[in-house]
Amino acid sequence: MQEDVDGFNGRNQLKIGEMASDRSLADLTQQWFVASTKHEYSYHFTWLGRPIIQFPQDIIALQEIIWRVKPDLVIETGIARGGSLIFNASMLELIGGEGIVLGIDIDIRAHNRVEIEKHPLSKRIRMIEGSSIDGEVVKQIRAYAQGKERVLVILDSNHTHQHVLKELELYSPMVTKDSYLVVFDTVIEDMPEDAYPDRPWGKGNNPKTAVWEFLKKNDRFQIDREMETKLLITVAPDGYLKCVGGLP
Ligand SMILES: C[S@@+](CC[C@H](N)C(=O)[O-])C[C@H]1O[C@@H](n2cnc3c(N)ncnc32)[C@H](O)[C@@H]1O
Repeated sequence: MQEDVDGFNGRNQLKIGEMASDRSLADLTQQWFVASTKHEYSYHFTWLGRPIIQFPQDIIALQEIIWRVKPDLVIETGIARGGSLIFNASMLELIGGEGIVLGIDIDIRAHNRVEIEKHPLSKRIRMIEGSSIDGEVVKQIRAYAQGKERVLVILDSNHTHQHVLKELELYSPMVTKDSYLVVFDTVIEDMPEDAYPDRPWGKGNNPKTAVWEFLKKNDRFQIDREMETKLLITVAPDGYLKCVGGLP
């Protein structure tokens, strides 16, 4: 039995390794990614009834991570319509235990708050309205993280370099060993120059450049290459950061 499991896992590793060196597949993926973004692909899905602004592949990745880590606290910056909060809460509900999700957004629209609060999973959700890098907001978040054994952090708010770098500095100390710091939309760095004409971020100024700068000075985190390699299609290349060090 164990031999079968080892064989299955071994074959997967082999195939993922082969896939990683398949240049034509990488080119197709890039082409597909750019073409689908024009149609706002990531806006078209819901999780248990709430719109979630994610690629299905990244939702599966988070499912793997949450099952592995079994966090007692998930902190996510960027709530939007609440789908990702409901997703995180649904995973915690499946795992069992007392885990909660803390969402932070600078602008929680009244109609979104109503829908999130009346959702059957809202008992696991807490929300803070304010900027994710505001000192008072961060103080409240630290109070939630205090004493928790397994904390997972997901950054999905303002995607400029300066903002994400500040978030990385403020939130990384709350991530516990063997958990993850997930930084979404690092893919902006890999998109064409003119992909985000009406946004303050773009090539050279985005979550991936922030991750690169952060990792130069921080050795508690390592990019989980296996995750992005097997996903192929992801908004978070270089963004799945595994915490390999104890709390600072
Ligand atoms: C990409 S959406 C979040 C999507 C959500 N995580 C999901 O998967 O459905 C980004 C959100 O970040 C919020 N935001 C922008 N700047 C922010 C800031 N400084 N602090 C906190 N939230 C911010 C926006 O209001 C918006 O709702």
